[in-house]
Amino acid sequence: MIGSSRYRSHVCADTPEAEGQQVRLAGWVHRRRDHGGIVFIDLRDRSGVVQLVFHPEQAEAHAAAGRLSPEDVLSVIGTVVPRDAQTVNDRIPTGRVEISVEAVEMLSEADPLPFQVEDESIEVSEEVRLTYRYIDLRRSRGLRALELRSRITSAIRRSLEGNGFLDVETPMLTRSTPEGARDFLVPSRLHQGYWYALPQSPQLFKQLLMVGGIERYYQIARCFRDEDLRADRQPEFTQVDLEASFVEPDQVYGVVEDFIVAACAEAGQSLAAPFARLGWEEAMRRFGSDRPDLRYSFEIQDWSQQALGTDFAVFKKTVEGGGVIRALVVPGGGRQFSRKDGDDLVAEAQGLGAKGLVWVVVSDDGSLRSPVAKFLEGLDSDLGASPGDLIAMVADDEVTASSVLGALRARFPKRYGLELESPWAAVWITDFPLVEWNVEEARWDPSHHPFTAPKSEHVEILESDTAAVRADAYDLVMNGVEVGGGSIRIHDTALQQRVFELIGVGAQEAEEKFGFLLQALKLGAPPHGGFALGLDRLVMLLAGEQSIREVIPFPKTASGADPLTGAPAPVGAAQLEELAVESLVPDPVPEG
Ligand code: AMO
Ligand code: AMP
Repeated sequence: MIGSSRYRSHVCADTPEAEGQQVRLAGWVHRRRDHGGIVFIDLRDRSGVVQLVFHPEQAEAHAAAGRLSPEDVLSVIGTVVPRDAQTVNDRIPTGRVEISVEAVEMLSEADPLPFQVEDESIEVSEEVRLTYRYIDLRRSRGLRALELRSRITSAIRRSLEGNGFLDVETPMLTRSTPEGARDFLVPSRLHQGYWYALPQSPQLFKQLLMVGGIERYYQIARCFRDEDLRADRQPEFTQVDLEASFVEPDQVYGVVEDFIVAACAEAGQSLAAPFARLGWEEAMRRFGSDRPDLRYSFEIQDWSQQALGTDFAVFKKTVEGGGVIRALVVPGGGRQFSRKDGDDLVAEAQGLGAKGLVWVVVSDDGSLRSPVAKFLEGLDSDLGASPGDLIAMVADDEVTASSVLGALRARFPKRYGLELESPWAAVWITDFPLVEWNVEEARWDPSHHPFTAPKSEHVEILESDTAAVRADAYDLVMNGVEVGGGSIRIHDTALQQRVFELIGVGAQEAEEKFGFLLQALKLGAPPHGGFALGLDRLVMLLAGEQSIREVIPFPKTASGADPLTGAPAPVGAAQLEELAVESLVPDPVPEG
């Protein structure tokens, strides 16, 4: 507990317990109201607000109150008095008392602000909010997010430490780590022409810690990835990173479930462990996505066999050619569905890569409304669709049909106002393919990262039936958001080399980039595996926010800039020279 200082004896939220006492409070002028001689000020500190009353009889304090403007910082001395029954304010926790002020000390005057703190209903552009992020954080939305983040982080630490994990730091100035994004580079002054990379994750170091006998490692780790940004991606973000030795996936799931449940409890949400598990293949078939939102139960269904019996050429030919007909029944989606909505949906599906889309509305009388209704007799009963439902169908190869309907499935709940079937749905997606074919570059890329172990029973088909090889890799998906992922790692040098070869990393390149890891694997490496949670994403979900920027204290904009500090910024020629770096853009045009 922080004791009293010359600025304050109590925080605003604690004033009701001090009724009748003289207190000293410090904070910001949240709101001011003048009522015929009496001045009311809502004083705000982190704990909340309390009403200050300035009576004309306290002439000096009253005069000072008259000069206060929003967001001035002051310290006051006054007595906590109960409010009259008529003036009790039930909307604030301190609403049954007020502070009758005897003395005011101005600590810092505030100029007129770029936006109001007091009235949060006034929308402010993100650019302005981030330029003045410190003012934005005074609003309850920002403060609540940071408070929640702090509590969640702390609960996660307690849970992991309770499970025997050691908090260990790993370097920020390091070599490139292979998580598949571009690196942020830092030139070395002492080794000119050489560069550090900021870590995309602590992946290699945590594996080295296992070789080092740490057995259970965790870290709240900052990661850096130079990639295109989205609502759930930032160039620097935070992982709850962990690794453990002598484990199988089940032990990793258990440890992660423990801390996720603890984190959710901090946000007042109860989640039951163990979480559901869904094989990757099944997830793709039933939901068309490796991060399905299972708060809604509607699934992709197959209508291929039935399509063969129709006269609908598009469908028939697709199935005869080895393709499939897949359908999604959207409960209630057909209630106000116009022809124009149908055309838009077809265009949307084409934008997602489909050749076309068939939409069908089951009318109230049970008849089907669709441009091709005459071919689709019995469709509604085959798919279990009811009056009012919308059916969306795609004919294509299996991968395309699934991915298009999967993308639509993610958009439909909001569009058609589907009812949430449960507030939370956490699911492990397991058994990912080890590698995926990169069409452009005509090579296999790791689905996760190159240190992920193939399932032991698939090691023998690594080269002969590569596409069928599954990995001991898993993602944790909550409410349709990939909140984390991990795998069991390869702990055998020979297998690691085979995987490098498979993904086109030659022996020499492997030695250059990861020689230190290959060496470590030869010197007594325990079987090990781990996981990394995207902390920003979990906090975003638990805060009910749509973007991770809302739960990061000083985030970057969508273009990777920080309007507050002006980063990134040009540097002087002397600094570059010291680093032996020459810029291809010698005189950058000032931005903004
Ligand atoms: P991965 O790359 O899947 O795995 O990252 C783990 C989790 O980190 C979060 N995440 C991000 N969050 C915000 N902004 C980003 N740019 C961003 N990129 C990733 C996601 C993701 O699920 N080393 C492995 C983990 C392991 O194998 O143990 C790794 O980093 O929530
Ligand atoms: P068409 O024969 O191209 O005029 O298409 C007839 C109907 O089938 C139209 O409603 C198209 O949108 C639809 N369609 C065409 N190709 C596909 C496809 N691959 N999957 C689903 N519907 C399709």
